[in-house]
Order: sequence, then structure tokens, then C-alpha cells
Amino acid sequence: MFFDAVANDHGLPHNPMKALIGPRPIGWITCVNARGDVNLSPYSFFNAMGENPFIVAFSSNGYKDAVAFIDETKEFVCNLATWDLREAMNKTSAPLERGRSELDYAGLTAAPSRLVKPPRVAEAKAALECRWLSTTRLSTVEGVAMDQWLVLGQVMGVHIDDDFVKDGLVDTAAMRPIMRGGYMDYFVATPETKFSIARPTRA
Ligand SMILES: Cc1cc2nc3c(=O)[nH]c(=O)nc-3n(C[C@H](O)[C@H](O)[C@H](O)COP(=O)(O)O)c2cc1C
Repeated sequence: MFFDAVANDHGLPHNPMKALIGPRPIGWITCVNARGDVNLSPYSFFNAMGENPFIVAFSSNGYKDAVAFIDETKEFVCNLATWDLREAMNKTSAPLERGRSELDYAGLTAAPSRLVKPPRVAEAKAALECRWLSTTRLSTVEGVAMDQWLVLGQVMGVHIDDDFVKDGLVDTAAMRPIMRGGYMDYFVATPETKFSIARPTRA
């Protein structure tokens, strides 16, 4: 099949785009506003966008609290969402009134970060402490402003649960990170689904 992505004439019961651009890693983002209210929410429009130093990005569909808080205080933490935390992670996507902590609501513990104000999720097996670089409102090819906000940050500090560092390598599969597919679907990386391929040398 083929469909026009602007006309969205796929004829399917649900837009298939998120099922095609996936599974996507989940940035489970903690941030604070100037008052010190903590926000924790998952973003699957999330990825690493550069290295030396590492730059990460997430995109918010609507000017949500995470973007508002980060614009105010210029810092955030990306926590790793894993299989054991899947229910808690999902709970933190609930729309709560401002000032009510998603961490408490999901039964999670805040651990202090080292270099930034927002706490990290103590239960997360890895967390990236970031400083804000930019917030960009996206627009279409016609130049029409969208209600989609792209936030970039530079990774300043990295937490890794030492249990998952083996022989000098991080055992990603053992952490069982979860990823977002389309619809209500998720995927989980496990040792069984891991494979390695050496990069080709110059042909
Ligand atoms: C796994 C998962 C991934 C999500 N990814 C995004 C995303 O990439 N962009 C977005 O705007 N919302 C995303 N959401 C929804 C937000 O997490 C949710 O709207 C947010 O937590 C609302 O909180 P707030 O009102 O405090 O900002 C996602 C939800 C889940 C469960």
C-alpha cells in the first residue's frame, strides 16, 4: 500500500506511522519548575542526536509541563524505562494537576542528581543528567507553526547501575529497556533478541 502522509488517506482504522517509526526508545524525563515542583513523564519521540558531547532530544506534542518546566529551569534528566518499571512508567503519563508529583503517584523514589536540580528516578538502571540547549517549535514545509516542541539538551552526567557493567561493557539487554511501538504496543530488548555485527572495513 501507499498513502499520502499529509492527506493521511491510509484508509486504516489507526494512523500507522508510529508502528513504522519504531520501536522507539523512551526518554523518561524528570524536570522541575522554578517553584521546585517535579514533573516526570515518558517521551518516545526521543533519541541521541549527537556525540562528543552527547546531545539528546525529545519532542512534545503540545506545550506540555515538561517543556514548560525545562524552559524555566534549563535542566532535565532522562531516566531509562525498563521492563520492571513499565507500569510505573505508564502511570507517569497520566495528566495530573500541576504541583502533584508523578513520582509519588507512580510509587517511585526521587534520588538527587549530581550536576542538575531535577532528581533522577532512583529505581532506573541508568539516567542522563542534561542541561538545556534549545526549544524549537516545529513547522511544516509551508511554514505553518505546529503545536510540536523539540527540546535539545547536552548530557552532563551519567548514572549507571553497576550491576549492569560487565567486563567493562554495559549490558543493555540485561537491563531490559522497553521501547514504544504503534497503537498500545511496546517492545522489550532482552539477551535473546540481541545480536552483534562487526562494522565493514573499507571495501
Ligand atoms: C510510552 C509513552 C511515550 C510517550 N511519548 C510522548 C511523546 O513522545 N511526546 C508527547 O508529547 N507525549 C508523549 N507521551 C505522553 C506524555 O507522557 C503525557 O502527555 C505527559 O506525561 C503529560 O504530562 P504533563 O501534562 O504533566 O506534561 C507518551 C506517553 C507514553 C506512555
